Amino acid sequence: MYLNGKPNFSDVELSTGNLDVSKVESRINEKTKFMVPVHYSGNPVDLKSLYEIAEENDVKIIEDAAHSVGAEYDSKKIGSCKYSEMTIFSFHPVKHITTGEGGAVLTNNKEYYEKLLSFRSHGITKENLKGESSGDWYYEMCELGFNYRITDIQTTLGISQLSKLDRFVKKRRKIAKIYDEIFENNPFFDTILENENGKSSYHLYPILLKDEFKNKKGEIFSKLREEGLGVQVHYIPVYLQPYYQDLGYEKGLCPCSEEFYKKEISIPMYPSLSNEDIEFVEEKLFKVLSQYK
Ligand SMILES: Cc1ncc(COP(=O)(O)O)c(C=O)c1O
Repeated sequence: MYLNGKPNFSDVELSTGNLDVSKVESRINEKTKFMVPVHYSGNPVDLKSLYEIAEENDVKIIEDAAHSVGAEYDSKKIGSCKYSEMTIFSFHPVKHITTGEGGAVLTNNKEYYEKLLSFRSHGITKENLKGESSGDWYYEMCELGFNYRITDIQTTLGISQLSKLDRFVKKRRKIAKIYDEIFENNPFFDTILENENGKSSYHLYPILLKDEFKNKKGEIFSKLREEGLGVQVHYIPVYLQPYYQDLGYEKGLCPCSEEFYKKEISIPMYPSLSNEDIEFVEEKLFKVLSQYK
């Protein structure tokens, strides 16, 4: 939107919160340049099918992998950009690994790589100069960039964090498998199935309240917090935010996203969650939900 692009939101699957690949094509028009799928909760989107649609329609893919550093698709790490032009990661403190603030863009495309370097640093370059160099000091500002440089101090933290990533993801996956077993066939909520061609990094563990409980989500959420559970909701559909409403995006645009929002609560998920913590989550969750049976 900073470059006057206009997002054309496409609906998600109710079962996973990931982009519904079967609905994407109908959202593409002659102006569409990129698709930006989010690997929601760390669970990879069906990139191969999306890529086929992208190819047929001459559209490129940028993966929003803010949730999925350390995840895999097609036996390759998310970020390998096999089916996309670029992948973005977020290293905000709540993410799997952090640099305090900041993130990274990965690409295998040299043109984008060079553009990104320039964009990061005020549009300044010392390569492919437009004018004649007048000495070793010479540089050119060729476009209007930003100051998006990460600091050395942050990258030092990031490099140290990166060495722990596999351990963190392994731990998250272990916790998710325990949750999956505990919650199988429970009467209150459904959980998200992992993409069979991928490995989720489980940034989140969302539960989806069954229909008879979803209208009580506000109360249930407050009671869970009162019981000491650090629950959260991911997310309010973006286009329902005042900024997008003011631009004319209307309620009902993506019905499954809205339904997903009505049902979704994220329960605690972080690598240091102990077996006792998991038991605590189970006990409190069932205690609160049983009151609504
Ligand atoms: C799916 C998704 N995309 C993008 C972002 C933005 O990341 P950042 O705040 O590092 O720019 C976030 C951050 O929470 C996110 O969850």
